[in-house]
Amino acid sequence: MHILTTGGAGFIGSHTCVALLEAGHSVTVVDNFVNSQKEAVRRVEELTGKSIKLYEADCCDRDAMEKIFDENHFDAVIHFAGLKAVGESVQQPLRYYRNNIDSALTVCEVMGRHGCKRIVFSSSATVYGVPDEVPLREDMFCKGCTNPYGWTKYMIEKILMGLCDSDPEWSVVLLRYFNPIGAHESGRIGENPNGIPNNLMPFITKVAVGQLDHLNVFGNDYDTPDGTGVRDYIHVVDLARGHVHACDYAMTRTGCDIINLGTGVGYSVLDIVNTFEKVNGIKVPYVIGPRRAGDVAACYADPKKAAEVLHWKAEKSLEDMCRDSWRWQKNNPNGYSA
Ligand code: UFG
Repeated sequence: MHILTTGGAGFIGSHTCVALLEAGHSVTVVDNFVNSQKEAVRRVEELTGKSIKLYEADCCDRDAMEKIFDENHFDAVIHFAGLKAVGESVQQPLRYYRNNIDSALTVCEVMGRHGCKRIVFSSSATVYGVPDEVPLREDMFCKGCTNPYGWTKYMIEKILMGLCDSDPEWSVVLLRYFNPIGAHESGRIGENPNGIPNNLMPFITKVAVGQLDHLNVFGNDYDTPDGTGVRDYIHVVDLARGHVHACDYAMTRTGCDIINLGTGVGYSVLDIVNTFEKVNGIKVPYVIGPRRAGDVAACYADPKKAAEVLHWKAEKSLEDMCRDSWRWQKNNPNGYSA
């Protein structure tokens, strides 16, 4: 298959490009590099020994997207491109709605015009909102999100569902990711956030490498085994493999499915810190602080549907995730910049 990955230079996108190329597919990337680097694509080529056709363009730019589709035949699109920082989305809601919704609409319109009607969308467990119960199943009612970023994921899901209702030729897979961490085991590609990281694992690796002083643990009074927040951390290489399965699945049927990509296992903040310290032999000083607004106590997936429908399940352990995150950070203290 020839697959277009929008945002293919990003954290999940770059790992998915590796998985697609290793599975024998051809890959084209379109990325505007607002939050990613060309070097990631170069390293994917280096790792796989295969080449990627790369377009520097914004998915909201209709003319640029038309040109990409005029010049290529794609069997499917994986739409990763989007702004993704929760806190920033609260400060800049219009930018988030404009960018994320506009790019999804433009990609779908251009796809439809070119007769490419298979799309895998990177959604998020954030659409479940504050859960009444865990584990989270895809058929649970989503009560609403806690920030504009989450709402953009929610709205794009609805847009793609509507598209399937309107036209039976569309094949849509909505993947709800839980908490992706880890990195390719080569240590050549990984997560490269701008500025001070918001998410737990990149923050921990920055503390471990000495760029930040200590981790602030956001609350230890939740109703969880050790009082700290529990999440379903999933190795990005497992997640990437899930996209290859989702593309295969999208080829076999039409309609729309929502599928969780998680492990089904929840770990607390202190589980992550302790495992990171143990497998890497490095201390991560931390301070317990107040809760972060908008956080939930526990969030983890029911991963059964992915196993049944995609024939996929996560295989890597928390130890693998901690080891691989650290290898990437240690080998690339400044990310992709030299
Ligand atoms: N945490 C800390 N200190 C930090 C950062 C995080 O204690 O410096 C804690 C949080 O309170 C939470 C856990 O670590 O308990 C995980 O927090 P992250 O910020 O890494 O991840 P979230 O679960 O808050 O959010 C992530 C993604 C969202 C996505 C959501 C889906 O960032 O994009 O998962 O549930 F929408």
